[in-house]
Amino acid sequence: MELRLHPRAQAHGKTIVLGEHSVVHGYPALAAGLPGGVTLTASPRPDPRQPSTLRIPAWGIDLELRVESEHPVARAALEVLGHCDGPLTGWAIAAQSTLLPGAGLGSSAALTVALARLALGPHADVGAVVEASLAGERIFHGEPSGLDSQVAARGGLLRFVRGQEPTPIPLSEPLPLLIVPSGVERRTAVQVAQVRARVERLPALGRPLLEVLGRSVDEGIETLRASKGPHDRARLGEIMQVAHGVLAALGVSCAALDALCSTALRHGALGAKLTGAGGGGCVLVLPGDDPRPIIDAFTQQGHAPISFVLHGSSPSTASPTLP
Ligand code: MEV
Repeated sequence: MELRLHPRAQAHGKTIVLGEHSVVHGYPALAAGLPGGVTLTASPRPDPRQPSTLRIPAWGIDLELRVESEHPVARAALEVLGHCDGPLTGWAIAAQSTLLPGAGLGSSAALTVALARLALGPHADVGAVVEASLAGERIFHGEPSGLDSQVAARGGLLRFVRGQEPTPIPLSEPLPLLIVPSGVERRTAVQVAQVRARVERLPALGRPLLEVLGRSVDEGIETLRASKGPHDRARLGEIMQVAHGVLAALGVSCAALDALCSTALRHGALGAKLTGAGGGGCVLVLPGDDPRPIIDAFTQQGHAPISFVLHGSSPSTASPTLP
């Protein structure tokens, strides 16, 4: 049988609303698909024995996918294609990405999910796509919980527990949010290892912190489901505040993220927290009724906040589009 790739595939970026890090330790997390993400196109090279290529101009990546390559993106791409019994040579793959790499917006999961879909096709079982994505994600992040791959593949708003099917979460009203990139890059695997080490050194303190993060997820979901307006949004903001404080206590915030959260709160945000692995990357902000003072404050500081609206279990829509 001739091995071939499908011509086009897509996957979402993600933002974690609540439960990053504790999800690695078996607690639930709540995460949303971003409308932007990664789109791949594939075309055959003239000779099927030529190495496949992968170009991602937005990330400065232009690679030949050779088995001996040590580049993590090349290794992860070959791992995903191999997992899907897809072709390992003879294809030119090009990516368009609206996601900043290394910023906690699920760029690697979006890439590996889209690669899996190139090999398995647009109607492939989501579980099979996620499994294939995880083969690549392990090269980037060690032992990821699977949250990023699930959201990249499904979009929408999901409650996820490691090893289980995610539950789509409907919302009683759309929820406007802001994502603010700090510009500080970090590695997820390093942040995850740091949390694990702290919990191992101080289990009597660390384990309850993870448990509080896990509980914040179901408190947050209950609040979102019931939300009838400003009062409930303020409650969600307070839950986000608690989550940020606990993540800081686990050692994964940093001065840049704390400063972004303070700016948001000073200008009327109901809550602000780091999103993703922390140590850099982005913060997630829940604005009050008027987000403009917050957006203006960030813009004056040279940041580029991204506005988007969560619509519950169907994929969210953005305004403006992710950069
Ligand atoms: C990274 O996007 C989220 C973490 O919880 C790691 C994981 O879930 O594998 C920090």
